[in-house]
Amino acid sequence: MNSGMTVQPRSYGATAGRKTHSQAAHPAIVTTRRGGFLAWEPCDYRSLQTSRKVSQLVCGNSQVAAAPPVPPFHRPPHSRILTSGHLIVPESLLTEKPMSHQPAAPRDRRVTVTDLGRAKQQGRPITMATAYDWPSARLVDEAGIDCVLVGDSVAMVVAGRDSTIPATLEQMLYHGEIVARGCRRALVVVDLPFPLQHLGTVRAIEASARLLKETGCQAIKLEGTAGQAEVIAGIVAAGIPVMGHVGLRPQAVHQLGGYRVQRDRDQLLEDATAAAEAGAFAVVLECVPEAIAREITESLPVPTIGIGAGSSCSGQVLVFHDLVGLSQDRVPSFVRSYAAVGNDIRSGLRRWHEDVVNRRFPGPDETPA
Ligand code: KIV
Repeated sequence: MNSGMTVQPRSYGATAGRKTHSQAAHPAIVTTRRGGFLAWEPCDYRSLQTSRKVSQLVCGNSQVAAAPPVPPFHRPPHSRILTSGHLIVPESLLTEKPMSHQPAAPRDRRVTVTDLGRAKQQGRPITMATAYDWPSARLVDEAGIDCVLVGDSVAMVVAGRDSTIPATLEQMLYHGEIVARGCRRALVVVDLPFPLQHLGTVRAIEASARLLKETGCQAIKLEGTAGQAEVIAGIVAAGIPVMGHVGLRPQAVHQLGGYRVQRDRDQLLEDATAAAEAGAFAVVLECVPEAIAREITESLPVPTIGIGAGSSCSGQVLVFHDLVGLSQDRVPSFVRSYAAVGNDIRSGLRRWHEDVVNRRFPGPDETPA
């Protein structure tokens, strides 16, 4: 076979974890569940059983994963699964870095909406985190995160309001400009605040255009149901990339009866499909059951970015303050905090206060001669 290499079941006696030379020379690419994502990684294989799905993967002597059915976009690009159950992948892939470690776009240029579409096709997870100011924008960007969202959650986490509804266009312009200046590589997306997507296409285009022109952000995000498809189409027709947002729409919190998981499968599918068909380059799925998020992700041609929507989405987004442990209030159950910055700040401030009142600060080092 010229275009690809057939990965066939084969056995050898090596112990898992201890690579022999011959194992290292014959890597296969298998899929594992890693950090909530299906990830492709080079691995020696002993047997690979597939029948239109990768159901059992064995690496060395140990089973790597019992993976669920793998939709086409989770397979490596240009791979095929034969009815015989063999997986065919291009030879070039076998020597590439693990997919799971590859960024959605090269490190030396700005991530584009096209990169995100390609990342979905290639099964590379997309990352997005919010930022509202220059230091947090720089931290998120420098961490290699693909997208930065200037969320209207600024009203809650920065301004201490109890919903995102009070966020204004002026605030999004202010924070958007600061964040865009702090990002060199990440695609910067800024929220269209309530209720601009409900006031007609022309007003939505005007506001979206201001957000792009005056902030330097590269795309806008808007919350909506299928009822906003026409508005999305209008903004897209104006040349402005739009990210949709369906499921729990925090701007509609009072109508939805609180911050609840949204379970109406037909409605969710209709809303997400309408956003994609209207030209959205990606769709955020917020607080959606895993099975529905997976179905939407598999049926949409564009990436889904999940928050409280399980691991099947094309990417994940979290609010910066939740992610780094800086939130003042209880964080939602779908959040995992990867740092405890709030505790560090609290302890630092307390120690400085004690040092000043006990005349231990400033000391000789901090005092000009
Ligand atoms: O405003 C925001 O931060 C958001 C994310 C939670 C997706 O919309």
